[in-house]
Amino acid sequence: MQKQSAIKDKRIEREQGDVNTTPNRRKYWERNLSQKAKQWFDEDLKYFLHQSLSTPVLNVLSRADGIYIQDLDGKKYIDMHGNGVHNAGFNNPAVIQAVKKQLDEGMTFCPRRYTNMPAIKLAKKLAEITPDGLCRSLFCPGGSEAIEMALMLAKQVTGRYKTISFWDSFHGAGFGAASIGGEEHFSGGFGPMVPGAFHVEFPNYYRNPWGFTSAEEVDGECLRQIELILKRETEMAAIIGEPISATPVVASKQYWEGVKHLCEQYGCLLIFDEIIEGFGRTGKMFACEHFVTPDVLVLGKSLGGGLAPFAGIVTHDKYNICQHRSIGHYTHEKNALCSAAALAEIEYIEAHELYDHAANLGSYCLERLNQLKENHPLIGHVAGLGLHIGIDLVSNSKTKERAVDEAEIIMFKCLEKGLSAKTIEGNVLTLRPALIITQDEMDRAIDIIDEAIGEVEQGKKY
Ligand SMILES: Cc1ncc(COP(=O)(O)O)c(C=O)c1O
Repeated sequence: MQKQSAIKDKRIEREQGDVNTTPNRRKYWERNLSQKAKQWFDEDLKYFLHQSLSTPVLNVLSRADGIYIQDLDGKKYIDMHGNGVHNAGFNNPAVIQAVKKQLDEGMTFCPRRYTNMPAIKLAKKLAEITPDGLCRSLFCPGGSEAIEMALMLAKQVTGRYKTISFWDSFHGAGFGAASIGGEEHFSGGFGPMVPGAFHVEFPNYYRNPWGFTSAEEVDGECLRQIELILKRETEMAAIIGEPISATPVVASKQYWEGVKHLCEQYGCLLIFDEIIEGFGRTGKMFACEHFVTPDVLVLGKSLGGGLAPFAGIVTHDKYNICQHRSIGHYTHEKNALCSAAALAEIEYIEAHELYDHAANLGSYCLERLNQLKENHPLIGHVAGLGLHIGIDLVSNSKTKERAVDEAEIIMFKCLEKGLSAKTIEGNVLTLRPALIITQDEMDRAIDIIDEAIGEVEQGKKY
């Protein structure tokens, strides 16, 4: 009985990332942590609260530069995860310079009830670069809080409280964000979550449970599920989702047009969580540009320039209705240092047209990975847009059974070869490098994945 629940817990843990208590993880530490690293690793174990997906950690880092992270022994890894903050690269010189300048000018923190020039310039910049009518911003320290603000705004605007979001999605920690998130890992065991949070399936064309063979059929069924809820549940405030799911699954434009149409028909808001997908990742400055303009756009991660915790929402002028309520009463609402970092990051992305680079290099990667698929039975499916790519590893290409054990070994082999990538849902190896990565560097990364998959297919254990 106990064993069964432990197995279930591991499955749930794997929804979001790799598990940090497996036998292979132990082997990885034994093989890869030097004595120096082990000392710091042990202190980290001793002084931090443990939780899955973070502590115990993989390794101890000394630097993060450009597309790389570096461990205490000077070994560099191309970072395909970067927690989503590294769109313009770690330690981006333009961001560092802007932050240093802001520190030197002495306007580093701005108490609430005052404003400052970097925060105003940032809000103005976002109004200029976000699509169609998105023009009013509100900032906060992290993505989870930004999600809360988006939900609170939708509830205030509509006077309703229910939401529809997607199974398997992650929108952050905290009760509001975890309630709309679709992973039991973040909501189980906490008692009642925020009421009125309904969930539906994301249109997954490769893994659709109905056996449909066309995108139109999958879209139609997924929209039908949403409408079923909308017809029965009044009080719906918002539909919230990532335009492209984290694994990633790229929904069709028709699907999102259908969702937007339903929102308009039933009087609820469409909220897009672009905390990962914003700022060039998908080949456009914002992922919604591939689909439809939402009522509320939620941004975070790379907004902080790869070093500052910063996030926020951008919405339409007509939703500027909260004069007598606070929906984001955060201490760092107009933090000048974070705003300076954010502005520098955005200007860097624009100046180097990193969205175009992501689009071109992303297409190239999909082509290369699809070629690899021909030679590797473990690769079931490759999907993505821009530099937001997932490799769905399967142990049987017909049944599409998830190759969870193999994926873990491939991940550790990649790490040992100098590539840091994360698995989601147990078997999807996700590739989200810094957008400054070159084609040669991306080729090197794909070569490593090719080698690692090949070794596992030849029966090499970890
Ligand atoms: C899609 C998405 N939304 C929200 C969040 C929460 O952001 P934060 O960790 O900054 O609270 C994350 C974080 O990983 C995310 O990936």
